[in-house]
Amino acid sequence: MSYLPDKNRYQEMQYRRCGNSGIQLSAISLGLWHNFGHVDVLENCRAILKLAFDSGITHFDLANNYGPPPGSAEENFGKILKEDFAAHRDEMIISSKAGYTMWDGPYGDWGSKKYLVASLDQSLKRMGLEYVDIFYHHRPDPATPLEETMHALDLIVKQGKALYAGISNYPAADASKAIGILKKLGTPCLIHQPKYSMFVRWVEEGLLDVLEQEGVGCIPFSPLAQGLLTNKYLHGIPADSRAANPNGFLKEADINETRVNQIRQLNEIALQRNQTLAQMALAWLLKDKRVTSVLIGASKPAQLADSLLCLDNIIFSEAELNAIEEILK
Ligand SMILES: NC(=O)c1ccc[n+]([C@@H]2O[C@H](COP(=O)([O-])OP(=O)(O)OC[C@H]3O[C@@H](n4cnc5c(N)ncnc54)[C@H](OP(=O)(O)O)[C@@H]3O)[C@@H](O)[C@H]2O)c1
Repeated sequence: MSYLPDKNRYQEMQYRRCGNSGIQLSAISLGLWHNFGHVDVLENCRAILKLAFDSGITHFDLANNYGPPPGSAEENFGKILKEDFAAHRDEMIISSKAGYTMWDGPYGDWGSKKYLVASLDQSLKRMGLEYVDIFYHHRPDPATPLEETMHALDLIVKQGKALYAGISNYPAADASKAIGILKKLGTPCLIHQPKYSMFVRWVEEGLLDVLEQEGVGCIPFSPLAQGLLTNKYLHGIPADSRAANPNGFLKEADINETRVNQIRQLNEIALQRNQTLAQMALAWLLKDKRVTSVLIGASKPAQLADSLLCLDNIIFSEAELNAIEEILK
């Protein structure tokens, strides 16, 4: 039977305006970095995507290199899109990126116009799309003039291959320059995608201010620190966790005694708030209005269901915030 999405899907989700743009994003977005490659089970991917869409998630984040193997997350997403979501394309914001190694030779990496334009063409083919909603430059390139990379984003938008341009992993000063160049070109930067969680807080030292001043949205990635900010590593490393997965980016060494102590204490505060640690970690980011959406991952539908409930309480008392700061010191 063909998939019929939940009729009430837009009722529980919150939508937040992305900077000064016309676009609103679901407060929770789903990323396909892990768990959606050819090494993964397609029916699990489909179940996660259906639950996301049924829950009002409108934003799905990909990149050329997601897999493994690289490109396979876009292929799987394209297949599921065609089979289940074809009637709903216009309800979705689909993003892709280029900036990390994708193919051999000097044109398959970093930030040249050659790489970005060719890579997006490949991504569109893999996903079976005419355009993506957002196309990002994935990381700053110290060797390519910033003007060239921003010209590539502008060209891609003007060609209609992407509706909006974004940047990812750009430090505050570079972000400010990139945003200025895009503005002059008439293709405003929609959004910045930085790594941000209770455990990784560099964005608080300037970047969030730049984005607020410029009216650019912010979508933190790895808001659960790849699963560290959940209750799963309290008693060792579960066999089905990212830290135990040979394809995973989280390493066993990341789960050290100091971290586990912090996680244990944070978990206590979460329990007092009637939340799981995952819910509290996401709520803690969403308490800041400059954060448009949190970009989560999930290896199982049940995790997504758990994380979605963060929206029930994104308000923190002064005492809770202070207690969290003490733990994170
Ligand atoms: N722009 C960039 O450079 C960049 C870089 C990285 C990521 N991203 C984007 O950000 C997205 C999210 O990154 P991420 O996957 O690292 O995010 P994350 O939300 O910090 O971590 C997701 C992982 O945590 C575990 N998890 C999630 N919810 C859970 C819950 N409720 N309870 C227990 N465990 C839970 C799962 O891992 P296990 O079950 O496998 O342990 C899941 O795969 C990516 O898919 C990608 O779209 C962008």
